[in-house]
Amino acid sequence: MEENVLFDPPAELSKNARIKSMDEYRALCKKAEDNYEGFWGDYAKEKITWKKPFDKVLDESKAPFYQWFVGGKLNVSEQCLDRHLETRKNKAAIIFEGELGDQKVLTYRELYYEVNKTANLLKNKFGIKKGDRVVIYLPMIPEAAVMMLACARIGAIHSIVFGGFSADALRDRVIDAQAKLVVTADGAYRRGKPYMLKPVVDEALTDECTSVEAVLIVQRNFEEIEYVSGRDYIYNELIKDQPVKCEAEVMDSEDPLFLLYTSGSTGKPKGVQHNSAGYILWAQMTMEWVFDVKENDTYWCTADVGWITGHTYIVYGPLAMGATTVMFEGVPVYPDPGRWWRMIEEYQVNQFYTAPTAIRLLHKVGNDEPAKYDLSSLKVLGTVGEPINPDAWLWYYNEIGGGKCPIVDTYWQTETGGHMITPLPGATPIKPASATFPLPGIIAEIMDEDGNPKPKNEKGLMCVTKPWPSMIRGIWGDPERFKESYFGTAKKNGQPVYFTGDGAIYDDDGYIVITGRTDDVINVSGHRMGTAEIEAAAGNHPHVAECAVVGKPDAIKGEGVFIYVVLKGEDNLAEEVDVMKEINQIIVKEIGPIAKADEIKFVPGLPKTRSGKIMRRILRAIAKGEEITQDISTLEDPSIVAKIQTCVLG
Ligand code: WT7
Repeated sequence: MEENVLFDPPAELSKNARIKSMDEYRALCKKAEDNYEGFWGDYAKEKITWKKPFDKVLDESKAPFYQWFVGGKLNVSEQCLDRHLETRKNKAAIIFEGELGDQKVLTYRELYYEVNKTANLLKNKFGIKKGDRVVIYLPMIPEAAVMMLACARIGAIHSIVFGGFSADALRDRVIDAQAKLVVTADGAYRRGKPYMLKPVVDEALTDECTSVEAVLIVQRNFEEIEYVSGRDYIYNELIKDQPVKCEAEVMDSEDPLFLLYTSGSTGKPKGVQHNSAGYILWAQMTMEWVFDVKENDTYWCTADVGWITGHTYIVYGPLAMGATTVMFEGVPVYPDPGRWWRMIEEYQVNQFYTAPTAIRLLHKVGNDEPAKYDLSSLKVLGTVGEPINPDAWLWYYNEIGGGKCPIVDTYWQTETGGHMITPLPGATPIKPASATFPLPGIIAEIMDEDGNPKPKNEKGLMCVTKPWPSMIRGIWGDPERFKESYFGTAKKNGQPVYFTGDGAIYDDDGYIVITGRTDDVINVSGHRMGTAEIEAAAGNHPHVAECAVVGKPDAIKGEGVFIYVVLKGEDNLAEEVDVMKEINQIIVKEIGPIAKADEIKFVPGLPKTRSGKIMRRILRAIAKGEEITQDISTLEDPSIVAKIQTCVLG
């Protein structure tokens, strides 16, 4: 019942919100539609501290390589730091809590000096210049944010690799980006115990990594590590003598700010490129609109800086608007599953932003844990990363938010840089499992490949039909793949438009419900993975003839990794258990533990069309234990379906 009810924003919150009602929301949307460039140009002038004003809002002449705020000059680290020194010098910028309970607060003043010193170190000691790539492989510690902003200050392009990726995955990214410097830590803490990162870097940096000149190591857990002399340097020692001021590089609006590798439908990860002005504008505006953070608020996003959510909503967005952002090193269940709720009470968190998979995990633990803590400081709750099921949504709303906090179910992607479709906490009546409506200025439509809008309750392609400032600017080193991945599927009025890769419907009320990926990308605990990447890894096992990976719905993780494996003809089935274990070892080595298979099934063959294409839809249905209703007569060997079912269901 509750699932179909609309929950209105609390009156008190609406009264003081930046966008106070649906009428205000609609007026902003109309303003953007009537004068698109005027809308964005006005915000860019108001929100960004320019070193030189831009000449043109949007240049579409090289579409789909759109350019925003052409001719403008700025520095993103100044947008996040320098301009706050006048009014927020002693305000907490970052509140850090380590896994073991250690705490550290960096005020805007302190963060400014740390960033300046680090920028000087990168420039003077390592010769990092504008345009150079720096790979950051760090745990969730304040130095990660410092390093990002230090790169931004000198115009270096950072590329963060999530700490859960393996040495092989790290190496691929270092080589693709041609990184000059790799920044890492000795290690950090997880579930109360030290874990190591530096050995992974040592393994990653083979002779193939010719671009890498040095490795900079932040000491975090002080465990013993090996040093390669002439290559490895200790940050904690070198930083001490650096001058506390570093002139910010004058950056063009369209100079790259960072790369972030993400999975697509082929085997090779894509280096998604974001540029300076458009990205930081939308990071800041969405922080203000969607979380409605006030001057004295404390905001907490539990993501990892290794993902886009950490980039935009732990570091760049909050700091650009001058907010206080909480950063937590650890996991939600250590030392007990009350950890996050205790932290909300401790820091009086006002806005809390997390992933459905974590909500489901903590929901399963029960209500006793949240009930122990005072969560009354909360005003807005957020979710991101995957569709949230009504059950988890209602628990979050009632037990964590006390029935008084709007949930912003934010739909967006690595490629979009910031939120695209989301409720506004003071305006939008919300309902479980709907991301509701596009933000003002975002022209998002559910349509077919030719641009015809889909009627209610009919699934279509989730597209964005006008460029927006924080959109992906390219795939590093592969402009053709960029065009084909994002602008190769859908058209409107004959013009290619951005396709997200997701399906969606308008429900009876016209609310947008995201139904999930339509391509071969799966979402495991909010981690985005290409089935092709996992297949490539599993296929490297000497006994595997071929394999197919699908996502299987999982109550906590959203999806689990399910692999169908065809063994080489002569192989002995008695060895299957070993083969299963070994396949997972290969996956952990080549990608990382996040891509491990939950289930591996040995089958005599895969369902293929006569042209050799694997029918994954059938494999997904079998994994779920569903009846096969679709036509299988077009398969090369229709009898294979029943055989596979026997193998899976026993
Ligand atoms: C994919 C993007 C956005 C930052 C974290 C993930 C799915 C994301 C939602 C949501 C339903 C969502 C989509 C999207 N997704 N947010 N609120 N509701 N699905 O970034 O790794 O680039 O993954 O995550 O499938 O395409 P990402």
